[in-house]
Amino acid sequence: MVYSIAIIPGDGIGPEIMDATLRVLESIDIEFDSRIVEAGDKAFREHGSYLPNDTLEAARKSDAVLKGPIGESAKHVVLPLRQDLGLFANLRPAKSIQGINTRLMADEEVDLLIVRENSEGLYSRVGGRKADVSFDIKITTRQASENIMRLGCHQARERRKLVTVVHKANVLQSDLLFQEVCHEVGREYDDLKIEQMYVDNCAYQLIREPSQFDVIVTPNLYGDILSDEASWVQGGLGLSPGANIGNLRGMFEPVHGAAFDIAKQNVANPIAMILSAVMMLDWLGTTHSDEQSSKWAHRIETAVNTTILQGHRTRDLGGKLTTKEFASHIIRNL
Ligand code: IPM
Ligand code: MG
Repeated sequence: MVYSIAIIPGDGIGPEIMDATLRVLESIDIEFDSRIVEAGDKAFREHGSYLPNDTLEAARKSDAVLKGPIGESAKHVVLPLRQDLGLFANLRPAKSIQGINTRLMADEEVDLLIVRENSEGLYSRVGGRKADVSFDIKITTRQASENIMRLGCHQARERRKLVTVVHKANVLQSDLLFQEVCHEVGREYDDLKIEQMYVDNCAYQLIREPSQFDVIVTPNLYGDILSDEASWVQGGLGLSPGANIGNLRGMFEPVHGAAFDIAKQNVANPIAMILSAVMMLDWLGTTHSDEQSSKWAHRIETAVNTTILQGHRTRDLGGKLTTKEFASHIIRNL
């Protein structure tokens, strides 16, 4: 199997962590037909477009997209890509890595998965402004709510069989529909435990006792916010990968942003980007019934864990290694 991959390095630290990730991918036994394309702030400066047609075409034609963080223009790149490619779900795991101080009071193991609705809600991009009044319309449909809940339930079946549906249905009409649909869908999965939680309480519980969560199914904006929070609970934004998936396509990207303050210094932590590539390999393995791909996903993840256990760290985790040096340790462990 040779997979075609569209690679978008992105802005800020994007090119550095993408470079580290591509070195890891080059060192494994899977062949890629990869194409590097531009999007974001730099693409705008150089080509006059945040998301050039060429990039969009490459993304459409590829088996998967591997994307770095985008800078100030993220909403003109990330949201159109998710919508165009039909990536209705955003999977964002937060899992403790042995050897990394989670900076929580209790020494708690965290292993949760945020399943974020990725196509509508407050990200529907319907809104406007008149003088000093502006508005964004939150659209919630039965179909999208059903899709995300089903996917969340399927994920939970492979995990600890608990789904927490997170919303604010006590206040918002749109969330009431979301909650109703999730409740209906959940009834079809009698092997799972389905719970409901208001989003404000969820934000609190994520800090108070993160180990209580397995799969969190939630609308778009809450998923965005809670995934940054969960990232801290796990040990920091440098560690958190993400998968945008639809029925046919997938785009894999870290949860974090472009971090301009530390860009071009070769100090950024590449783990989130590398683990996004792991999610890509795992997804390719599942969707193409390709054991090799799934096997390498697992091996890279193990190599990352081993590297951490050996005490190697980039600056964000209290170490001194450069991005390149850290990637070299992972490759050696592979
Ligand atoms: C993320 C980012 C994006 C989002 C922004 C940059 C459009 O915060 O992927 O979490 O809100 O989805
Ligand atoms: Mg975000």
